[in-house]
Amino acid sequence: MSDYSEVMLAKINPEAELPADVFIFLNGKHVKFKNKGDVLGKEKYDLFMAKNVKSIYVESDLVLEFMDWLTDTKAEDIEDMVKEAGEENRDIIEDSLALKEIVYEVFSDEKLTPDKIEAIQGHVEDFVGKIQKDPITAQAIQAIMARNDDIAAHSVNVANLAVFLGMAVGHGHSFVLENLYMGSIFHDYGKAKIPAEIYANPSHPEYDHWIKQHPENSVKIIRKSEGISDQVFNIMLQHHEYYDGSGYPEGLKGSNIYSLAQIVSMANEIDNLLTQTKSLEVVERYKKVVEMLTMGDGTKWDPKFFPRVTQAFRLGFIGKQEV
Ligand SMILES: [Fe+2]
Repeated sequence: MSDYSEVMLAKINPEAELPADVFIFLNGKHVKFKNKGDVLGKEKYDLFMAKNVKSIYVESDLVLEFMDWLTDTKAEDIEDMVKEAGEENRDIIEDSLALKEIVYEVFSDEKLTPDKIEAIQGHVEDFVGKIQKDPITAQAIQAIMARNDDIAAHSVNVANLAVFLGMAVGHGHSFVLENLYMGSIFHDYGKAKIPAEIYANPSHPEYDHWIKQHPENSVKIIRKSEGISDQVFNIMLQHHEYYDGSGYPEGLKGSNIYSLAQIVSMANEIDNLLTQTKSLEVVERYKKVVEMLTMGDGTKWDPKFFPRVTQAFRLGFIGKQEV
């Protein structure tokens, strides 16, 4: 009988070809899940998260080789992104990838504890300190966003976009940027906690109910832990509220919506639209997203900052010649 060694799922690129067979631990046994040469598949990650699965297993005599492969694929991935975004963005790219791993692990844990929140908060403070000195660029965000779209990756993408857009409309204080970042990281936490059998099955009779509830769910679960500010709670709770009152869960209108929640709402919409338009070529994709955002003159967002945010997005992500 073989021995098995545990490997953290968060460290594996879901789209890379596996160098060995991998196993999951099910009902007291190791069961083969994927063969050597297969990919894990990003669609599986959210499901793993919903089931609180944090690790997969490889046969112990292959684990050293597997770990080398992990190190190599990660290094290659970083080099590709640096090539795309420029050497000056290496630090931000490495930080975002590290944060993605932490977020995956924390979200797939059954319980959220104050020490885990503190770990993320510490990371966010460092990150915000860096981008205040040297603002986060569209190139870096773009390179990071081109990767996976599971909940952990989405959370980091939305956070990067939200601080980019927040800074573009004049927010510069650490406190505000940290709240924007933390609120974005946790905005879909409640989604990660939807029971796996419902989350995996959109035709389930309770699916819509759970989706509608996810902002409140995040807050309910996290309230039991400590260390999160009211501003962050408001972002989580209101990231699907729209200025014209058409959002959820409360259908709040206009200035009743917390302004930072509106920025996260836009960042969230942008990342979702980018995922939906993946089949298009890059520049076309970003143009399409601006077109979709401005449909209906952006009545979903506060007119005080909506034009400035879309302008900043256009300038950063499409380029001056296109504006
Ligand atoms: Fe959401």
